[in-house]
Amino acid sequence: MTLAEKISLLSSHCPLFSPLAQRYNMPLATGFNPGIPRLNIPALRMTDSGLGVANVLNKREGDTATALPSALSTAATFDSSIARAGGAMVGAEARAKTFNVLLAGAANIIRDPWAGRNFEYLGEDPLLVGTLAGAAIQGVQSNRIASTAKHFVLNPQETGRMIMDARIDPAALRESDLLAFEIAIELGQPASVMGPYNKINGEFGCESDELLNGVLKRDWGFRGWVMSDWGSTHSTEKAALAGLDQESGMEFDVMLNGAIFFTDRLLDAVREHRVPAARLDDMVRRVLIGMIDKGLFDHPVPSHPQPIDMQSHALVAQRVAEAGTVLLRNERNMLPLSAAVKSIVVIGGHADIGVLSGGGSSQVRSVGGAPIEIGLESGDAALFARQTWHASSPLQAIKALASGADVSFLDGTDRALAAKAAHAADMAVVFATHWRTEGVDLQSLSLTDDQDELIETVAAANPRTVVVLETGGPVLMPWMDRVSAVLAAWYPGQRGGEAIANILFGKVNPSGRLPITFPATATQAPRPEPGGLEQLRARDAAREAGDEKVRIAPFSVVYHEGANVGYRWYEIKKQKPLFAFGFGLSYTTFSYSNLAAIGGSAPRVTLDITNTGPVAGADVPQIYVRATGADGTTTWRLAGFARIEIDPGVTRRVVIPLEPRTYARWDEASRKWIFASDELQIAVGRSATDLVLRSTM
Ligand code: BGC
Repeated sequence: MTLAEKISLLSSHCPLFSPLAQRYNMPLATGFNPGIPRLNIPALRMTDSGLGVANVLNKREGDTATALPSALSTAATFDSSIARAGGAMVGAEARAKTFNVLLAGAANIIRDPWAGRNFEYLGEDPLLVGTLAGAAIQGVQSNRIASTAKHFVLNPQETGRMIMDARIDPAALRESDLLAFEIAIELGQPASVMGPYNKINGEFGCESDELLNGVLKRDWGFRGWVMSDWGSTHSTEKAALAGLDQESGMEFDVMLNGAIFFTDRLLDAVREHRVPAARLDDMVRRVLIGMIDKGLFDHPVPSHPQPIDMQSHALVAQRVAEAGTVLLRNERNMLPLSAAVKSIVVIGGHADIGVLSGGGSSQVRSVGGAPIEIGLESGDAALFARQTWHASSPLQAIKALASGADVSFLDGTDRALAAKAAHAADMAVVFATHWRTEGVDLQSLSLTDDQDELIETVAAANPRTVVVLETGGPVLMPWMDRVSAVLAAWYPGQRGGEAIANILFGKVNPSGRLPITFPATATQAPRPEPGGLEQLRARDAAREAGDEKVRIAPFSVVYHEGANVGYRWYEIKKQKPLFAFGFGLSYTTFSYSNLAAIGGSAPRVTLDITNTGPVAGADVPQIYVRATGADGTTTWRLAGFARIEIDPGVTRRVVIPLEPRTYARWDEASRKWIFASDELQIAVGRSATDLVLRSTM
């Protein structure tokens, strides 16, 4: 390869802003690199694909794809095979649409309940996140295309995301956010890893020698390439020497950071030996290894879009929604709805038309289009996000299953009318929606638009009220004690309506478990609100007043909870959340017996599970191990889990492998995991706070 050819592989363009997109006939997606025809090096054709092949703002007019539910729904299945099937489906669609690099594999753990991108992530526990992200990456890459794992690492909030500095103890980082990536990368073997926007411990993630060269490449032996996020390259020499291999969407760096860093500037740096020739070769080799290893050379993607079996793909999305919806409350077995119900009033959430989705770069234009789309007037997401509903009507799906019942709909804007209708009906189903998007954090965990008042009013008129939540994470539920049942459906994807109706009527027995703690109050969480919020408010006020120049100054957030994220934080603080990590009800019941643990190099537990209830269902036994971290705190930690379908009256013996790093301690001095040699307490739980049987290992 000539020097120019080598350099040419180390950056990508954004087709939305690059004049070259037309010349190379690139779809209006996220990124591309033209490749090197002289050497038969194929083009990199990149698309966001975390929840389906994205089509942000419908730039590729009419190019629809299958929309999975939010990643929280996949996480709530606690099932690798479901995560893998989702990835495989998305990868197949991407390939058919001529893409060969998928910006997927989101493996950040959720630290804050209010963070804007929580719906794109797999929860708060490193083992759950790493295992399912790894499986999703495997699924994508089974199509002989490349996937990323992103955003490496600790990319925790949207407020000031380009400038904030996330500060954390290095050992705690290993035991939490890094552990999730370590597991995801081991299992998924992604071709590429994407760096974040923000700084971690004082360095931009894409300039961190410690994280890129040190942890990822040296300690973990990662052989593929590190790409930046779109607009997260800030330098040439420093970034290249720290381990960044490819500058993504270079037009973003022009807009956000004032220059392109990995084209002419990199060429100069190599010529002047500021970046050694050997490092340049390493960068190129890494891109090529990722491409060759995943099949981009041997199995080129089609040059023109191919037909897709949307029917069968929709079933993949529906399966995730059905297994990932969490039944949070079910007083007096209100659900499943009996066939004898005579009248149902469905209220709110645009349930007559569709289901809500989350906003930002992951936005899928789903099959059936976007029946409702609401643009934003202001704010950091206004340029690239709209509130978008998928065309899957819960109302229609309920009508289809409620044979004989009178099913009516009210949009919920008139509370008095809703109360009257609820009073007159056998029961009410209120759909509550709560939108989140990339680019903006929530300022409150409360439902918006008077939906709390709507639920209170309806429940007061008829206690036989079921609330279906379509949210991108936890919300506060002041009305909890007044309603009969609550379903957390997350953003349920393009078959969400059907999935919700199937669960309401018992065609599907709910088996989802919370992948994230639901706090009882906002102040229970480590940070009640995003860092930098005051500055953001001041900036927005200045903008309102016509001053566009005010910027948010760089700030840092100290992650003082360290590795004690989510349920571990609640344990240490002795706080009772509204709903614990791992919690979820079923229409049947399960009992546990004969818990036994085997330690050593392949640690595992065996357990008997009996379905003691009336119907078939899936249980999610969770194995927690009590362990002490580098900071000296001792908590229960999820060390293994399974999702098992069991018929009524049947007992199944399960063997659940444990991940030892979840109960090890990271020793920063020796850069090694240290395993306690003594006896460990273990437990099987129905959630992080409901440990049913204990044993030792
Ligand atoms: C997001 C990434 C995404 C990229 C390209 C960024 O804003 O953080 O997740 O892959 O845009 O769209």
